[in-house]
Amino acid sequence: MPEIKLADRQISLPPGSNLLDGLLAAGAQVPYSCRSGHCQTCLLQNHQALADDDPACCNLSPEQRAAGWLLACQCQVTQDLDLHPFDPRHSAVPALITGQTRLADDVLELRLRPRGLLRYFAGQHATLWLDEHLGRSYSIASLPDQGELHFHVRLYPHGAFSQRIQRMDNGQTIYLSNVAGNCHYDPDWHDRPLLLLARGTAVGMLQAIARDALKQGHSAGITLIVWQRSEDSGYWQQSLQSWANQHPTVTYLTTTDAEGDRLLRRRGLVARNTMALVCGSPAFVERQRKPLFMNGLARRQILDEAFLGSQTAAVDPNHG
Ligand code: FES
Repeated sequence: MPEIKLADRQISLPPGSNLLDGLLAAGAQVPYSCRSGHCQTCLLQNHQALADDDPACCNLSPEQRAAGWLLACQCQVTQDLDLHPFDPRHSAVPALITGQTRLADDVLELRLRPRGLLRYFAGQHATLWLDEHLGRSYSIASLPDQGELHFHVRLYPHGAFSQRIQRMDNGQTIYLSNVAGNCHYDPDWHDRPLLLLARGTAVGMLQAIARDALKQGHSAGITLIVWQRSEDSGYWQQSLQSWANQHPTVTYLTTTDAEGDRLLRRRGLVARNTMALVCGSPAFVERQRKPLFMNGLARRQILDEAFLGSQTAAVDPNHG
């Protein structure tokens, strides 16, 4: 059986088994979040690089692959591995907590000032680390020139990350890594209608994308539609409405699961050259594709970002 060394542990795992599952079952402390190869929370470094096309590392950058990094959740054990954990204190950008504001009983706006160079677009996601064992991926709800990164953090009653972060004080340091994601504004869209569909805390990143578009001179209409469980269950509505009121090209609407499909079929809401950005849980993202296709949009006109962390948290409320 392949032998896996991790820090001071030595663990035998059956060939073909999943590395993350095997390590967790053996009691090793390995951080993870999405389990689907997106968030890079489960990064481990092998003493030698795997093949570039190995599923455990094929989505990582060439530099990460060359340095032996792999994603434990995507790794099928086929050989001995000599692994070291990702240490955000050495491999991520430190960031000071500059503020926390409750946007709702269960949503916190977290503001961070990075203490190093960090390139990002509004709408991309980053992994936030409290220590080497606890990291979560969140979408960026601010613009690069704000000097601060903003995140909308859902507070789960037993969520390891969310419960700890809300007890931290301004001036304390956490760490940022893995800024990535294709869901951001492209200046080439300047004269095309933008349709932004959000559910839950995805509204933060999509409003940031809309602000980025306006800042870059977007001339066509921008429609932001937010799905809520019921008519009075949303958050941040007054702020969004007053922001939308200041911009004649912006329309802000709320809807529910029951009404959403009908709204998307409304005549004139989706033009042939619309760019649609859809963000929320995997089920929400999947559900919106069909009405958008029915409205004549091609696959390349739809960008989506599934909040895999919210799916994990829905399965395991201790994980958020
Ligand atoms: S990439 Fe492995 S847990 Fe997210």
